Amino acid sequence: MAGRLIVISNRIPSEAAPSGGLVFALHETLRKIGGVWIGSHPETTDNPAENLTKYGDQSEYARLSFSLSPEDYQNFYLGFSNSVLWPVCHRRGDLVELDRGFERGYSAVNARLAQQVIKIAGPEDMIWVHDYHFFPLATELRKLGFTGKIGFFLHIPFPALGDMGALPREANLAHWLADYDLVGLQTRADVARCLEMFRAETDSEFLMNGTIKCGARAVAVRSFPIGIDVETFVQAAQGGSEQDRLADDMAGDIVIGVDRLDYSKGLPNRFRAFGRYLETRDERERRVSMVQIAPPSREEVAAYRELRYELEELVGRVNGEHGEIDWTPLRYIHRNLDRDLLARLYRRARVGIVTPFADGMNLVAKEYIAAQDPEDPGVLILSHMAGAAEDLTDAILVNPYDIEDMSEALKTALALPLEERKRRHASCMAQVRATDVNRWSQTYVQALKNCAPMLVVKP
Ligand code: G6P
Repeated sequence: MAGRLIVISNRIPSEAAPSGGLVFALHETLRKIGGVWIGSHPETTDNPAENLTKYGDQSEYARLSFSLSPEDYQNFYLGFSNSVLWPVCHRRGDLVELDRGFERGYSAVNARLAQQVIKIAGPEDMIWVHDYHFFPLATELRKLGFTGKIGFFLHIPFPALGDMGALPREANLAHWLADYDLVGLQTRADVARCLEMFRAETDSEFLMNGTIKCGARAVAVRSFPIGIDVETFVQAAQGGSEQDRLADDMAGDIVIGVDRLDYSKGLPNRFRAFGRYLETRDERERRVSMVQIAPPSREEVAAYRELRYELEELVGRVNGEHGEIDWTPLRYIHRNLDRDLLARLYRRARVGIVTPFADGMNLVAKEYIAAQDPEDPGVLILSHMAGAAEDLTDAILVNPYDIEDMSEALKTALALPLEERKRRHASCMAQVRATDVNRWSQTYVQALKNCAPMLVVKP
């Protein structure tokens, strides 16, 4: 009998139709393929359950949750995952906070989760682990005797060897990743960094197709650039009467940015670049407003709180200097907006701006492209440091550290003739379609199936 697909990620939504990056991609995958999704329960408890428990809607596929204590949440989630691994992977070693408790909490949660997963996983099942919260999960599962296929997918950038120096010695990525059958990464650049790590840190032998023989095991390392559900998004962007209301409420041209409030997203420089653009613009031109949606994220971590204060100050400064009685140039919304409304906002905006210092892929860039009217499309300004820039080469690519470069890009984007906008959009849209999320998951799952079972290569 063919086994099931067991997907594991830290976040799991309780409802049938979630919105947003990783969670949306996994929901679509499980709807199509079926299987089990395991994630952490959003509420902590003083007595974490010993077994996985049913969680939320069960109608399309099974959802199970594991529970975390408040200490687990502090050490595993806020601590090691988001104050050590996240900054290291996003080239912010200066923000790393090392704490032995974080390391212990991370190991303990991964070990405990493996014990719970092994109770429900048969050798025919395939386990697909997502993201940096669970690097050691395969090692823990192998210790418990699991011999079935285990795949990993990292949604964020694979860290450079130099940046890994900030990790505590116990955090041995090469050792952990060698226990998977397939390591999926977003971009070709990520694959190159991962292979460099294996080369530098292990005695592994490099076989064909990015497969590495590591001790007695073989692990394949490949890129699978993630995408969006293109058709659903195209339709959402076209629908609704709200678009007319948006058009009325928002005179002039709109530049839109949508990012979790995270220091990797380059928001302060983006606001500075918009301020610079306003300083240098010709006042006879149409007014241009920037709308920035920045939902709160990980606010218990100091670096995130500090960024919020910095942004609030910058917004005040830009509007104070450039606003008029009847015009607020920079509108900043520190809340989540409904997905359909967002889609229509993207379509209304002349420019979409995505300027992270580091980003695994960035699905906002793809959503912005998909939402455009192909006959009169807006223009995407994209940091060349986002994973999406590897394929969306016909966006206007910018350096997110360079305020002048981004301010010039705004000018260029707003003045781009229709034919050039159409050409760039068609090229980007072809790439967005080529990486549709349904194809992404099918390709990954097929590749994991194709890995030889526990390919033990004689040393
Ligand atoms: C990124 C990560 C995801 C994470 C998401 C939201 O996209 O790759 O693993 O779920 O951010 O962050 P949060 O900490 O709120 O889950």
